[in-house]
Amino acid sequence: MVRTGFSGGHFERTLASVTSADGAFLLVGREGGAANQELARTLHQPEDVFISALHAAPVSKKRESPDFRLPVSILRAKGVLPSDGDAQLQAEALANQLNQDNVVDEVSVGHGGMIAFKVHRKLLVEKMLEPFGEEDAAFGFNSELFNTLKKGKTLVEFSSPNIAKKFHAGHLRSTIIGNFIANLKESLGNHVIRMNYLGDWGMQFGLLGAGFDQFGSQEKLNVNPLQHLFDVYVQVNQEAEHNQEVHLAAREFFRKLEQRDSQAMSLWQQFRDITVKEYQQVYQRLGVPFDIYSGESFHQEQAQELVQLLRTRGLLKTSQRGTGVVDLSEEGDMSSCATVLRSDGTSLYITRDIAAAIDRKEKFHFDEMIYVTDKSQQNHFQQLFRILGIMGHPWAESCRHVSFGLVQGMSTRRGEVVFLEDVLDEARARMLHNMRQAKTTKEMDDPGDTAEKVGMSALIVQDFKGPLESDYKFDWDRMLQAQGDTGVFLQYTHARLRSLMRTNSAIGAKEMDPSLLLEQRSIAILQHLLRFDEVLYQSNRDLQPRHLVNFLTKLSHLVASALRELPVKGSPHNVAQARLRLFSGACSVLASGMRILGIKPVEKM
Ligand code: ARG
Repeated sequence: MVRTGFSGGHFERTLASVTSADGAFLLVGREGGAANQELARTLHQPEDVFISALHAAPVSKKRESPDFRLPVSILRAKGVLPSDGDAQLQAEALANQLNQDNVVDEVSVGHGGMIAFKVHRKLLVEKMLEPFGEEDAAFGFNSELFNTLKKGKTLVEFSSPNIAKKFHAGHLRSTIIGNFIANLKESLGNHVIRMNYLGDWGMQFGLLGAGFDQFGSQEKLNVNPLQHLFDVYVQVNQEAEHNQEVHLAAREFFRKLEQRDSQAMSLWQQFRDITVKEYQQVYQRLGVPFDIYSGESFHQEQAQELVQLLRTRGLLKTSQRGTGVVDLSEEGDMSSCATVLRSDGTSLYITRDIAAAIDRKEKFHFDEMIYVTDKSQQNHFQQLFRILGIMGHPWAESCRHVSFGLVQGMSTRRGEVVFLEDVLDEARARMLHNMRQAKTTKEMDDPGDTAEKVGMSALIVQDFKGPLESDYKFDWDRMLQAQGDTGVFLQYTHARLRSLMRTNSAIGAKEMDPSLLLEQRSIAILQHLLRFDEVLYQSNRDLQPRHLVNFLTKLSHLVASALRELPVKGSPHNVAQARLRLFSGACSVLASGMRILGIKPVEKM
């Protein structure tokens, strides 16, 4: 017996089932689709084989593509088909056993043993556009594909700049990547805690405290705090190069801090408060919210307790240099170890991180914790997770470090980037300049604001295009191009679609006849939308934003062709209606994808 079956709004339950040689059913459903497995249980016998391997097929520009694909290699790998047979012949034999029904219109075999399924065209149109008839379509996010994913509490720690020091390209990348991860996790139904872990402790505060007497001014601190703290820090460092006394004073100030001397602490507190306040404003401008501004200082005392704990549990060894270390080697021969205590008894960056992780687990009961920093800290986080494991914390397994490559040449007209604000200002100024040249600023309420949003989306897309691990060269001109796969292009497409909907709002798209959307340009968009949940699924697995960037760029290209060939204006009323529904569906997916990336879609540009 051979059949294919189908149910469910977004084709999650598209099934193909055939009887295998021993009489059991072979059921094929979409990867990760929980509903399929349920269906398999209720409809068939326990010995039936269920394979979730069906994928939405990539859309080709040249000819009409199938909707779903099943590589026969997966059936071979899972032992459903013998792995020594000819894959192409196996695929053909299998395809011959599959019949067509009221869902599947065509089954064919492509190169490399790829079985392709084509769904009835009208059904495809109907099912894909159904959700957009209602307000606020959560298209893609409630896909059954996500039922198998564990949902829980995710703590994402990102951005994490250091007070009085530069906000460098690494911090910018951490900010936008962490924001993307938090958005993604949230959109898939997790409870997300967004944490900023400030570099707010350490010798730099000794220098800053000592230098403030000499170079600081309360007045300047109030007017432009970040700039002033940075200036003082630079000056005192220069002074320290030839003046031993500065060193002594710095050490003395830091010692006071470690002993919680009230005067020293109050200056430190002022630096911290004022910095957080400034940062909050810039993050808000960027559209990146944080729930918590923690920092190294919060775990200073816990770090000392942690060292005690390690000592009593026999995990702290003394190295030849007199530092306190934890043995990380499998063999227990100290062939690899991590330093957690200086010889003068003070704690280190990693000591505070261990204490912080334990504290966060106790406070927030997260199910997973994600740290986002550049790849130079890979070793640090490996050591951190390993120590947590050695200490007997099983949740060390649910900690993850997302690392990224270096950016070369990020600078502004003022020169090197020192503050996050510099980047935003530069993106705004450059984009505004381009918009004025293209004369698109006339009918805008706030061209500066639009320019900033578009400029930042250009920066984000450039950053997210490749694998996060790769280094890349920062290039304002290239990223701000209106053509090509840039953030400007995504924004431009979104603004065009919004304007189409505004000008035709009288037509309305509530009613629509699916048989009016059977042109190849329209089908291609719908087939592409079919992939959206898979793209989110994939992104959730490897936390790489490039899948979503590619998806949205391709969607924008498909939309551009469709806008050319499927005009709304001048078409009969029912055709116009149907097309508007298609475009509004595309627009809504484009906007929600952009928002996950951390891009604010603009209405006009
Ligand atoms: N402040 C650090 C830096 O700028 C990044 C902190 C990363 N997070 C952590 N838990 N260590 O390099």
